[in-house]
Amino acid sequence: MAKTSMLCSLDLGTSNTRVIVGEIDREGAVNIIGIGQSKSTGMKKGIIIDIEAAVNSIEDAVSQAERMIGEDIDTVVLGIGGPQTTLLRNSGVVAVQGEDKEITPQDVTRVVQAAQVLAIPPEREIISVNPISYIVDGYEGIKDPVGMIGVRLEVDALVVTGKATYLQNVRRCVEKADLEISDVVLKGIAGGNMALSSDERELGCALIDIGAGVTEISLYKHNTIQSFTSIPQGGDLITYDLAHGLRVPYSQAEQIKLLYGAASYEAAGQEAISYDSVGASESTQIDATRLVEYIKPRVEEMFDFIRNELIKSGFREPPSGGIVLTGGTCQLPGLLEVAERKLGTNVRIYRPEHIGVSDPSFTSSTAVLYYAAGHKKIKFHGSGKDSRTQRKPGKFMSKFRSLFTELFGG
Ligand SMILES: Nc1ncnc2c1ncn2[C@@H]1O[C@H](COP(=O)(O)OP(=O)(O)OP(=O)(O)O)[C@@H](O)[C@H]1O
Ligand SMILES: [Mg+2]
Repeated sequence: MAKTSMLCSLDLGTSNTRVIVGEIDREGAVNIIGIGQSKSTGMKKGIIIDIEAAVNSIEDAVSQAERMIGEDIDTVVLGIGGPQTTLLRNSGVVAVQGEDKEITPQDVTRVVQAAQVLAIPPEREIISVNPISYIVDGYEGIKDPVGMIGVRLEVDALVVTGKATYLQNVRRCVEKADLEISDVVLKGIAGGNMALSSDERELGCALIDIGAGVTEISLYKHNTIQSFTSIPQGGDLITYDLAHGLRVPYSQAEQIKLLYGAASYEAAGQEAISYDSVGASESTQIDATRLVEYIKPRVEEMFDFIRNELIKSGFREPPSGGIVLTGGTCQLPGLLEVAERKLGTNVRIYRPEHIGVSDPSFTSSTAVLYYAAGHKKIKFHGSGKDSRTQRKPGKFMSKFRSLFTELFGG
């Protein structure tokens, strides 16, 4: 059996904190062995607003996953995104050093370092540099230049930057939860790799992750992410609208949204809903279709904002490869039709299948794990006789399903 290494991703979402643990073999193939999910109580619009609460959420999610895999987790790959992060494109160039002019891994390291030299405001930090391709003596599109002969080595790279204070807070929370960060990955880059087909990435396609507090838009063309932008809005706004409209607490509005909410009359159910308004002496009854009055305008407005972002990013016309939606909010019945109408192109929903249930809320956490597995140099351990590596996939899946039943009660 191939030797394996373990990787764990961490996604600090506005509504939920998620970790996914995978065993990675030498070829980079991932076998998911654990998941953990907890309610995020210290987050607002993708930003940490309460350190202690965020630490507790991380600890809860991690210990769930630890129980599942029967091992401690001490290192995570952190997924980041949201309005505090930006993506820039930069290039670097170096002279090949060896006398025989054969490009070595050290030359590659130097050229990637050279791509980090760019003017960024003092309050921002470089999070990662992701090479797209290399150019050797003017020949473009080289994926791995090591071993080639050349004089001049250039790299075309994506540089992810983040607001320093935001990153410090995230790091502090992760460290307080007794975890080390082995790598930081932009969720938009990881998500595009997993959720979009290579044809979509080549033709031009937008991956839009609509969560609870943030909508992240990653635009792809020519097989590369071209831009990453975030709008500080998501499903929470729909819940707040319902809470105000029905005069119910946020938690009850969220429950009503999840059970009966819809963005169109066609998609709405016929149920009669009974709820207790704040201060009212008797319960109120309304038909589920009435919820559309509160939800539809908000969803339409959200897609107006998204369309404006696409235009600002240079897509006056819809991308030829269409639009892919993901994130928890895209499960709202009728939302897909609003998206197609407002964005004027084909829209599909991406649901990751890797964890045994197809839930689009898990796209970021799953994608970060797969991206890290595919891109990082991993230390391998174990003899292959570890009992975990010998479990049958079916057993894992039934374990995931029962965990999901526990988490979501369904
Ligand atoms: N079936 C559903 N119908 C409508 N909305 C849903 C459904 N399931 C989940 N949601 C909404 O999805 C949102 C959570 O999505 P997700 O888990 O992707 O967000 P997050 O990653 O925690 O937050 P963010 O990415 O914004 O920081 C919540 O607003 C929730 O109400
Ligand atoms: Mg999210």
